[in-house]
Amino acid sequence: MNQRVALTPFGAAATGSVLVPGSKSHTNRALLCAALAEGTSKLSGVLFADDTEAMLEAVRSLGAEVVEHRSELILQVTGLGGRLRFNGSVINSRSSGTTSRFILPVLAAGRGPATLDGSEQLRSRPFAEQISALRALGCDLRETRAPGELPLDIVADELAGGEIEIAADSGSQFVSGLLLAAPLYSKGLTIHLSGKPVSRPYIEMTVKVMEDFGVNVEQPNESTYVVHSGKYRATDVDIEPDATAASYFFGAAAITHGRVRVEGLHKQSIQGDIQFVDVLQQLGAKVTWGDAFIEVEGDRIRGGSFDLRDFSDTVQTLAAVAAFADSEIEIKGVGFIRAKETDRLAAMTSELAKCGVDITETANGLVIRPDKWLLRGGVIETYDDHRMAMSMSLIGLRVPGIEILNPDCVKKTFPDFFPCLEHLRPRPQQRSKVVAVVAIDGPAGSGKSTVARRLAADLNLPHFDTGAMYRAVGVAALRAGVDVEDADGITKLATEAEIEISDRVFIDGVDVTEEIRTQEANQLVSVVAANAEVRRVLVPRQREWATGLGGGVMEGRDIGTEVFPDALLKVFLTADLSVRAERRFAESSGLTLGHVSEDLKRRDEVDSTREDSPLLVAPGAVIFDTSGLSVDDVVSQIATMFRALVDD
Ligand code: CDP
Repeated sequence: MNQRVALTPFGAAATGSVLVPGSKSHTNRALLCAALAEGTSKLSGVLFADDTEAMLEAVRSLGAEVVEHRSELILQVTGLGGRLRFNGSVINSRSSGTTSRFILPVLAAGRGPATLDGSEQLRSRPFAEQISALRALGCDLRETRAPGELPLDIVADELAGGEIEIAADSGSQFVSGLLLAAPLYSKGLTIHLSGKPVSRPYIEMTVKVMEDFGVNVEQPNESTYVVHSGKYRATDVDIEPDATAASYFFGAAAITHGRVRVEGLHKQSIQGDIQFVDVLQQLGAKVTWGDAFIEVEGDRIRGGSFDLRDFSDTVQTLAAVAAFADSEIEIKGVGFIRAKETDRLAAMTSELAKCGVDITETANGLVIRPDKWLLRGGVIETYDDHRMAMSMSLIGLRVPGIEILNPDCVKKTFPDFFPCLEHLRPRPQQRSKVVAVVAIDGPAGSGKSTVARRLAADLNLPHFDTGAMYRAVGVAALRAGVDVEDADGITKLATEAEIEISDRVFIDGVDVTEEIRTQEANQLVSVVAANAEVRRVLVPRQREWATGLGGGVMEGRDIGTEVFPDALLKVFLTADLSVRAERRFAESSGLTLGHVSEDLKRRDEVDSTREDSPLLVAPGAVIFDTSGLSVDDVVSQIATMFRALVDD
């Protein structure tokens, strides 16, 4: 068992094409129908993961014969053709909600005593709605531990079926289970849904799979399903790739401003979770719908309000994406996901808050008010919920220090999740446009200069301090007696002065290395840098400077956004204002800590709000809070990210 996984951020756009495993929901429905059918069915593209192993075991204990071709993802299932006899069989559904809720109504159709049980986690999930529906139909069921929970003893006596009402917001799995078993009941089954159904697409998927196996489901109105007594017929089924699993990779594209294709999915998918792609599109991503793929290209993530009632398994993915949005994102309509593997709203709130996200739980969803500057790493609890592990990993694509505890919980539906995610880290040969620059941006005192210098030395690359250029122009103005507010005068200086930056800084041959760091220079530099004409002169010089030397580590305020948006690796350093003030105070003389802090605040404000090239987190940049870290830690972590991008 792995205790934890530490993620290394990409710091670059996720790129590539992924094959996600087969849909859990489709696999488990098809497996059950095949097991109940007469004849042999072939299922291709099957998911082999904990939840489907649970169903596989369950249908075998019902008496179905299954031949496995695991490496080809194929199962051959010879069904029972309706004969269900038990003699004290115990069915262990592990942690699988679908297995337990699909099997229970099927058990009721057989004859003899049986027990349905599952993991501790499953035992704490609700079953009351289905138990009372089956009891109302005359089934003999007994909870052996607590009312409305597993384990359940059943003495089955070929339930005749009939007509029932079920609360639609109790969860679609109950309804799906009853539908799947309905043709086995001698009188069939009519289900009336009361209230507004949750996850209706899952009910539609059930209906579609039943139809594939030859059973018709009538829907006289929105809230009624009628299934006549009948038989499933064996058939061959291609299982769709899992749309929920795909959501993590589409989310990765959005978060890193990358481009990711998931093979085998399309608009006509029977999975409701495909709608997650529409949400990303509304948030600003570009989506290409192919006949046999969907591709998402990330862009700035806008805000918005979204009702995920029909595709609630993607709530956690959206919440992770929301941490990188430009404005507030509200997720609503999903209060019922508190009864999934864990209370998903509470769990997501607590783990995202750990990472610096301003998130509030509401009665039926989440509100996320993102601020990228405040993101930080953390050790993430997963609550034995595969979707916690997978969604929170997405934060780790752009935030260092994310560690996922008990990552093996992904085995429930996606055993290869972590290698698949890693597969999207861009490789050198995929990156034709890329410039071999490590871009380091951030506010004053975030550690940029020290980190950039040390990183360049460690990686044996040139170092480019673009701030020194703006400072040099400021000092040139001081020396020439030009007012910094005189935009034209300053631009003329920037154009004409010969600035040379190596270990030392020269203006027209005069060494000004110390002078550019004085308090007086500090006062001027933000004004100089806010002059758009000055930037028009200096930015091309910075580009030539770096490309002329074959790339290197370049620091500044707009390197990832403006100077080299196609940099190999982009990093945005931050730190709490108080920490930054302490750092600058230690380097300064004759100033109080209060003065230093005020000065930093003023420069943050000017740099972030200026019209031309404001200080912003570059698209896809790693957001690195250095508050509690040593220079060594920061440098070695960035070096690791760099190596992950260049080593093949
Ligand atoms: O080291 P510190 O954060 O004090 O700043 P610096 O890197 O020496 O840059 C000084 C000032 O130049 C910043 O406050 C920005 O106003 C400006 N600057 C910029 O606008 N764009 C850059 N690429 C680099 C610096």
